[in-house]
Amino acid sequence: ATDLIGRHFLKELDFTAEEFRGLIALAAELKAAKKAGTEVQRLRGRNIALIFEKTSTRTRCAFEVAAADQGASTTYLDPSGSQMGHKESVKDTARVLGRMFDAIEYRGDSQAAVEELAANAGVPVFNGLTDDWHPTQMLADVLTMTEHSDKPLTELAFAYLGDARFNMGNSYLVTGALLGMDVRIVAPKAYWPAEEIVAEARALAEGSGARITLTEDVAEGVRGADFVATDVWVSMGEPKEVWDERIAALAPYAVTMDVLRATGNADVKFLHCLPAFHDLGTAVGRDIHARYGLAELEVTDEVFESAHSVVFDEAENRMHTIKAIMVATMAGPAA
Ligand code: CP
Ligand code: NVA
Repeated sequence: ATDLIGRHFLKELDFTAEEFRGLIALAAELKAAKKAGTEVQRLRGRNIALIFEKTSTRTRCAFEVAAADQGASTTYLDPSGSQMGHKESVKDTARVLGRMFDAIEYRGDSQAAVEELAANAGVPVFNGLTDDWHPTQMLADVLTMTEHSDKPLTELAFAYLGDARFNMGNSYLVTGALLGMDVRIVAPKAYWPAEEIVAEARALAEGSGARITLTEDVAEGVRGADFVATDVWVSMGEPKEVWDERIAALAPYAVTMDVLRATGNADVKFLHCLPAFHDLGTAVGRDIHARYGLAELEVTDEVFESAHSVVFDEAENRMHTIKAIMVATMAGPAA
């Protein structure tokens, strides 16, 4: 299941459930090997282009460290560092980079752009986040869930609270549906994923046995959950003006200790893809505090810093899982 040579990863549904689980198993093996000092390099001499039209800490570092561990080189192109989309079309850029690199990672707002790259590059293309999907994040989150629960994935329940119309909400819904999980989207109706994504998830659930719930009711949504997740209320690329509306609509969906207690599960774990707004440690945070008097938003500092929180395991797992996707799609024989 780990031989996905030449395949793209543009959205979760590019893989079957079996292939997705295979990637998680490969990531766990690679993680164990790195920790034991027995990692085998299977990407020696490979070159990987990293195109970032939006900023990143985890995703960029995960690709760079994973590539280095495996003997590959990376070239980082920041928003001002390439002609793509400004002086050169995505299609032409794809054909140029495809002649030089063995794979391309792309982060930007447009899902159409990453698909256009993939259609023209002739090498594997990985989506490092678009407005629609964050598939590499899902590999890390699922690995983290398997590490923090003894239950099989099909018995796990997780609730996502907050803005579910964007990359993280969409990705959680379809990933849970694909893998047969009990997925709850807990948000005001206006913040639920688009109808076609919900329909796709429901169709997948018929085959996978997933249970799909969309609810505005926090207590109902989190009852019995093994994992509670959230994401920022305003995503990269959104204007400052939306803060008023987001805070008003999403405040009841903040992850607090009361929300964790409402799961009825003393061992419930908290997930967040990060960056998170839980204290005044950021410029954005201080600005929000000055304007609204709030020091924490989608998650309280108490939850974030509690024993329930597994967010730094999740962040570390970005690297092991991104390594898995690169090895599975690009590896030569072990060296
Ligand atoms: N979770 C995540 O994608 O983080 P970065 O934006 O730092 O890459
Ligand atoms: N929804 C967030 C995720 C960041 C990793 C964003 O798109 O900014």
